[in-house]
Amino acid sequence: MPRLDVRCKVDLPVSVITMNNGEKGILETSARFSSISLGGGYINEYISDKKNKIIGLKYDLPSHGEFEILGEVMRSEGKGFATRFYNLNRDAKIKLWDYIKDNLADDLTCPYCGKGHTQKLRSCDTCGWGMNIHSQNYIVDHEKESFINRLESKSKQFSIEDIYKTLNYVDVEILKIGKNLDINEEFVGSSQGLLNVFSMIRKVAPTDIPVLITGESGTGKELTAMAIHERSQRRNKPFVTINCAAIPENLIEAELFGHEKGAFTGAYNSKMGKFEYAEGGTIFLDEIGELSLQLQSKILRFLEDRIVERIGKNGGKKVDVRLVAATNRELKNAIASGSFRKDLFYRLDVFNIHLPPVRDRGDDKVILARYFLNKFSKEMNLTKTFSAETIESIKRYDWPGNVREIINKIRRSVVVSKELAITPQDMDLEVPADSEVLTSLREERYSMEKQKLIEALKHCNNNISKVARVLGISRPSVYSLRKKYNI
Ligand SMILES: Nc1ncnc2c1ncn2[C@@H]1O[C@H](COP(=O)(O)OP(=O)(O)OP(=O)(O)O)[C@@H](O)[C@H]1O
Ligand SMILES: [Mg+2]
Repeated sequence: MPRLDVRCKVDLPVSVITMNNGEKGILETSARFSSISLGGGYINEYISDKKNKIIGLKYDLPSHGEFEILGEVMRSEGKGFATRFYNLNRDAKIKLWDYIKDNLADDLTCPYCGKGHTQKLRSCDTCGWGMNIHSQNYIVDHEKESFINRLESKSKQFSIEDIYKTLNYVDVEILKIGKNLDINEEFVGSSQGLLNVFSMIRKVAPTDIPVLITGESGTGKELTAMAIHERSQRRNKPFVTINCAAIPENLIEAELFGHEKGAFTGAYNSKMGKFEYAEGGTIFLDEIGELSLQLQSKILRFLEDRIVERIGKNGGKKVDVRLVAATNRELKNAIASGSFRKDLFYRLDVFNIHLPPVRDRGDDKVILARYFLNKFSKEMNLTKTFSAETIESIKRYDWPGNVREIINKIRRSVVVSKELAITPQDMDLEVPADSEVLTSLREERYSMEKQKLIEALKHCNNNISKVARVLGISRPSVYSLRKKYNI
């Protein structure tokens, strides 16, 4: 039977994070992936699969940076083990796909069934899977095709009830028929800083204005860029990300603008640049502060005439692409030191969305932590909570790595925690004093009560009688709670 995923041979360093046998703490072992697919990979290091069913995996993809994901040990095999990845998010998947695609042996061998062909084919004549691996929409089309195949085989067991339930789920939860696509479904948090961000996303999304997203590392700049794209008229066209810091300077121009055959040593074929790929959609230039002055000029020119010129080609091509850029650098300082063009900055800064660091988001720290704990626990069929001490330590910590650090710490804690309640040690956080925990419990009750009230008001469209019924309290109590929390 052919594989459902493209797998390729690689030699990619990976850190395997496991529980330290019997003792507290975690163990990080250096190993290597010798093959990898979107669904999992083979790691050439022995680990005991009895004690370590769930593991953390940390790897660095050339041109894309570091990823930390969860995996499950499927079986020991040879001197290593096979692992399955737990729900990779869209971003991690697209970037991993980029890497896999570049590591495939050749264009003629079917990466699913291994059949060698003598000429390039659109689909394999043996297993039928598409071979047009380098086309722009390949991964999306492939995922859709696999989904339909899986659904078809499973649907044989569906009852008529199941069919109605599935169709209803697709309409209401996925296509949001009868609902407005809500930013809160992707972004967790209700602090004023984040609410301002939501309102700016809503305002700018339907326009074509370039946007500059600023904020520290891990605050959600890429998520914001995607949210803008998803809420624009361009949502059915490509969203193309390019990380200006991760690609060597001599390659980035070709990546962005493409090149003609023979334009420079090693340019064996002509190649389309990311701007052309993004036609009709959005291009996201991440870490724009890292671009050379020469490329900054090219971007500025693009913003003025919307024309891109491949390296080695005379004359350009008009493309319809919206530009969204992000940086964690203070661009005004870069202007002062001469490494960023002032005119480009003012073109981009027309609409600036600044993401506040997590330490300035008040209760959002705990809301985010609970959200990710629920998410990872559900994915792994586990029930986990935070101890009161842990909640306090989450509040007291500054989270310099912002949301990404919250995600990573919680993902690890789910792997290492032995009890139902996650301790500060499981998260590698400082243990707070007892008195601090008592105050925290009181505050926690307040914030839960407030959160429930907000949810109920939203759910019931501010109808007080309904809210009273939902919460099981009297109407006057609803009014007094609203007053207490100023809602
Ligand atoms: N408010 C939020 N709610 C839920 N998830 C979030 C939120 N903000 C960020 N994330 C998640 O945190 C991770 C980091 O976010 P993102 O990559 O957008 O940050 P970034 O600012 O681009 O970071 P960097 O500067 O390191 O590239 C992503 O997995 C993203 O989905
Ligand atoms: Mg980013």
